[in-house]
Amino acid sequence: MRLLFIADIFGRPGREAVEAVVPRLREELDLDLVVANGENAADGAGITDRLADKILASGVDCITLGNHTWHQRGFGTYLDTQPRIVRPANYLASNPGRGVTVVEARDGTPVAVVNLMGRLFVHPEPSCSPFEIAASTVAEAKAQAPVVLVDFHAEATSEKVAMGRHLAGRVTAVLGTHTHVQTSDAHVLSGGTAYITDAGMTGPHDSVIGVRTDLILRRFTTQMPVRFEPADGGVRLEGVVIECDGGGRASSIEAIRIDE
Ligand SMILES: [Fe+2]
Ligand SMILES: [Fe+2]
Repeated sequence: MRLLFIADIFGRPGREAVEAVVPRLREELDLDLVVANGENAADGAGITDRLADKILASGVDCITLGNHTWHQRGFGTYLDTQPRIVRPANYLASNPGRGVTVVEARDGTPVAVVNLMGRLFVHPEPSCSPFEIAASTVAEAKAQAPVVLVDFHAEATSEKVAMGRHLAGRVTAVLGTHTHVQTSDAHVLSGGTAYITDAGMTGPHDSVIGVRTDLILRRFTTQMPVRFEPADGGVRLEGVVIECDGGGRASSIEAIRIDE
């Protein structure tokens, strides 16, 4: 099975890149399933019902989220009704939506998608430790599907590497998101778990992790509030392609970067 994970879709440039590239990639790479992180789809912060529907209609089978889940007002209702989207499993159980879902690959094979969020330097911090909840979350996923993809949305390299090792041999992939700069450490951990510290960003790379450079520099140099806006140059799709067997054991992971 060949799975594509698309790194954080940032603003309109990121959404347009997905719409332009994913249908072609599904054929060229002979993909069985496409999962994308959509936490920055709406102007770089959060996602709306309409944008999630558009992303799901453009060849993405499932959307994962992160610390910007609640940024757009009223999104909880959508999370409760759309099964093809997950928010961090270590949010409060009473929060809208789910942290584990199951979608079907091209041949009907069930694939579980899990979203977990780190606690180091992430705001707002999730209610409980991703390490504490990982066992029950993975058990819930594995009871429904042999193939399990985990989007671990976290800031600290150490926390992401640790989660990869924590889940090695227990899931198909642990894929880091949130920092938006693709790392060069994609590899398969012992036990057949594909891992990367950060899958990158799908959006405008002529920027500071998606935001217009001049606005970010004004914020850093003046230390005054500045309203962020997505940049528009240097757009590319980034992510990873994973190969695994029917039992959910990964054999390869390759980082990809595709100019629009
Ligand atoms: Fe992000
Ligand atoms: Fe994030």
